[in-house]
Amino acid sequence: MDAFFILKKRNFRRCYQEKYAIIRQVKKMERLQKVLAQANIASRRKSETIITEGRVKVNGQVIKELGFQVNPSDQIEVDGNQIERAPHLYFLLNKPTGYVSTTSDEKNRQTVMDLLSIEHKQTRLYPVGRLDFDTAGLLLITNDGDLTKRLTHPEHQIEKEYLVRVDAIVIRKKIVELRKGVIIDKNYKAIPKEVRLLELDKKNQSTLLSMTLVEGKNKQVRKMIEAIGHQVKKLTRVRYDFLTLEGVERGSYRPLKVHEVKQLYAHSLPKK
Ligand code: URA
Repeated sequence: MDAFFILKKRNFRRCYQEKYAIIRQVKKMERLQKVLAQANIASRRKSETIITEGRVKVNGQVIKELGFQVNPSDQIEVDGNQIERAPHLYFLLNKPTGYVSTTSDEKNRQTVMDLLSIEHKQTRLYPVGRLDFDTAGLLLITNDGDLTKRLTHPEHQIEKEYLVRVDAIVIRKKIVELRKGVIIDKNYKAIPKEVRLLELDKKNQSTLLSMTLVEGKNKQVRKMIEAIGHQVKKLTRVRYDFLTLEGVERGSYRPLKVHEVKQLYAHSLPKK
């Protein structure tokens, strides 16, 4: 067998394995109580009680075990009525400032959920990670807990790119400092993936930077800019992995395409 043929065979095997790993992730098993909660039968807690009371059947069999795993094709009944499984939904929202990235707020501020249609508000969606009240830009919204966990896990190094308007002229030395990493939260060294200088506005004494991070510490960009002695005037997330805000106006959202969801899964596969 010549080297070319061996290489081709290896490539084919790798592509095949990757493809099926992705399909396994998308068509995955889920805990019964989570499926009941997502189908709006009851809260996760109450669903657990319903299960332990023996009121739930999976494919005709009573299941009392908490944590029982079901797959998307399993038939689930509660008190003899078949439930309608909530499909996974994925949206890309262009968040305006002035909204909190949670499903509810104890201070009664507007949440990103207020930007969704009535139909989508009724499903149990939530944001993937957070953007500050004063930050605008790209925020993913879903009801897929597994994908959320993967994307927000630091191991997967998902890139988030921000446009950062700084309240001063940032000199070269400070940009070099930023690139090397700065201390935030007393003892954490935050190292950005990339920092680019986009504009120096001498008239208004401000600077526009592009900063790409692969971690998501609370207020990380603002703290990093404070670490070099400046303040953020305006912050916008313009990219999440390969997704951008293109075609989505501030305050609106669009569903992700199937190939985009698959790509997010592929980029957040556990490392071997
Ligand atoms: N970094 C911040 O400081 N704020 C955000 O909202 C996101 C990243």
